Amino acid sequence: MTIGSVPLAGAPAMPLLGFGTWQIKGAAAYASVRRALEAGYRHLDTATVYGNEAEVGRALHDSGVPRDEVFVTTKIPPERAGKESATLAASLKALELDAVDLWLIHWSPRRGRAVPLWQALLAEQAEGRARAVGVSNFSLDEIDELTAATGQTPAVNQIRWGPRLYDAELVAGHRRRGVVVEGYSPFKTTDLHDPVLTRAAAAHGVDAARVVLRWHVQHEIVVIPKSSTPERIVSNFSIDGFTLTDEEMAAVDALAGRR
Ligand SMILES: NC(=O)c1ccc[n+]([C@@H]2O[C@H](COP(=O)([O-])OP(=O)(O)OC[C@H]3O[C@@H](n4cnc5c(N)ncnc54)[C@H](OP(=O)(O)O)[C@@H]3O)[C@@H](O)[C@H]2O)c1
Repeated sequence: MTIGSVPLAGAPAMPLLGFGTWQIKGAAAYASVRRALEAGYRHLDTATVYGNEAEVGRALHDSGVPRDEVFVTTKIPPERAGKESATLAASLKALELDAVDLWLIHWSPRRGRAVPLWQALLAEQAEGRARAVGVSNFSLDEIDELTAATGQTPAVNQIRWGPRLYDAELVAGHRRRGVVVEGYSPFKTTDLHDPVLTRAAAAHGVDAARVVLRWHVQHEIVVIPKSSTPERIVSNFSIDGFTLTDEEMAAVDALAGRR
């Protein structure tokens, strides 16, 4: 059983399970990314504002894993509007890459500024420096504004997501538009002691964290857990040996809205 990936138009397929790198810097970032690649992750998530692109890039380079086997995402903060080319060039230099697989607008800019920024991302994609482009923390209305202005819809929207934030309508709205939903902060948004999760975990001989990750993947929602703990980096990747039943999936869905 493999974890799988989702297709992105004009870009490599995006593995459903990736490795998040927010709040890890310097030697810890390098060591964690090396560990993640050794464990089998083939999808790395970073951002200009994380201050760790150089460590992510060096870890990828030193790992010996062929570049084309790893899906790399970075993000531009909207405050860099007007300096998009220089921002991507700095990311690529730090990451030691010719192109990223996915480049995202990290959060929505002030009103009226999203379209020119989106046009700049599309221009970089046309130049081949970003294989796919998308957004993060955007509403569906904000996505529609980009599509209406350019005819080009973001490939991905990376949003805060987890069982308590589950919203089937929001997922359906993204799918109708052809936008891949990528969830972030799967653990920070979740009570890993919730009996629904611990019961499913016990039934499959895993921990609650893996139930949460498996739940994302079975919904075909991309998930990018972060850890700097070596054992957790490995265990979070070990979600291909079990399948949640329909009843377990529905019980986790029903955590939506819980405080
Ligand atoms: N686009 C955006 O605006 C945005 C915002 C936030 C995050 N992100 C991306 O999404 C990634 C993930 O989100 P996140 O870093 O906010 O949070 P997260 O992955 O939900 O949670 C990370 C926390 O969970 C702990 N943890 C990891 N594995 C665990 C396990 N098996 N059991 C219990 N605890 C575990 C980690 O501790 P240890 O490290 O000590 O193991 C850390 O404290 C980020 O790293 C970043 O790449 C994007």
